[in-house]
Amino acid sequence: MNFKEELAYQVKETEAVIMKYLPEEAGYQKLVLEAMNYSVCAGGKRLRPLLMRETYRMFGGNTEVIEPFMAAIEMVHTYSLVHDDLPAMDNDEYRRGRKTTHVMYGEAMAILAGDALLNYAFETALKAFSMKDAKPLQIGQALQVFAKKAGIFGMIGGQTADILAEESNQDDVTEDLLLFIHEHKTAALIQSAMMTGAILAGASEADVKAVEKIAYNIGIAFQIQDDILDVTSSLEVLGKPIGSDEKNNKKTYVTLNGLEQSRQDVERISKEALSMLASFANRNLFLEQVVADLITREK
Ligand code: IPE
Ligand code: IPE
Ligand code: MG
Ligand code: MG
Ligand code: MG
Repeated sequence: MNFKEELAYQVKETEAVIMKYLPEEAGYQKLVLEAMNYSVCAGGKRLRPLLMRETYRMFGGNTEVIEPFMAAIEMVHTYSLVHDDLPAMDNDEYRRGRKTTHVMYGEAMAILAGDALLNYAFETALKAFSMKDAKPLQIGQALQVFAKKAGIFGMIGGQTADILAEESNQDDVTEDLLLFIHEHKTAALIQSAMMTGAILAGASEADVKAVEKIAYNIGIAFQIQDDILDVTSSLEVLGKPIGSDEKNNKKTYVTLNGLEQSRQDVERISKEALSMLASFANRNLFLEQVVADLITREK
């Protein structure tokens, strides 16, 4: 198999894991369950669960204990998108090639579907404790990282700073603040994915720290590329509107540094992550290819 075939295969496998853990649409709360599944089933690259499993494999993990965590990280990520698209935040009408959740189901249901996905992510990850090969200490450690990186010292903290920056004097949005925003709103969930993968595979503390740094770089490069694509791509290719940042008066990596510098930085920062990945005793060449492929991603 060449890389593209392997990637398509692994994304399909990841998708199957996610589907296994989605809630049944029934009961008086059926509508919110539909809204939850609507956004998760819309698709997306499934990058975070994919990175999680490949990091898990790199450290020798080979049981199903990783699966509830894979589904859980995609639920947290998807909830962050549902809320990010709300009128009070980025006010966008397309996501993953479909109308956004609030356009389809109304704002109240979109808020509740986001809340429900966040909570269900924890309900799902906790299922790992009752699996055959469960190692409770590792699962507990993984949950600590998972919770923190999604929260106020992680993704939610980044989204908060992002919104406040839009509302503040644009001169106050320094490169330092922008990096804080990128680190938290985007890199944190990528760190969560890769660190929980490492922890569940029994990686050493030093290796988990190294993975945190690698995922930081991957996440920063990923958000710079997202800012680039918001200027250079199209709704058809991206599945979400372009020009969202400009519409919201958002200072981005591109408005701060220009397109050319931004492209170079994506490559430089990604290559740092790649050289760190190549330094592990047990390399995962597919994981390295996934990271390299992100440098030139078009969606
Ligand atoms: C979008 O994430 C939000 C950002 C952090 C830039 P993705 O680009 O991974 O979105 P999907 O999951 O593929 O839809
Ligand atoms: C959002 O960043 C990151 C999240 C935590 C959702 P953006 O607002 O740039 O993400 P997109 O471009 O809407 O996917
Ligand atoms: Mg946003
Ligand atoms: Mg947005
Ligand atoms: Mg964006």
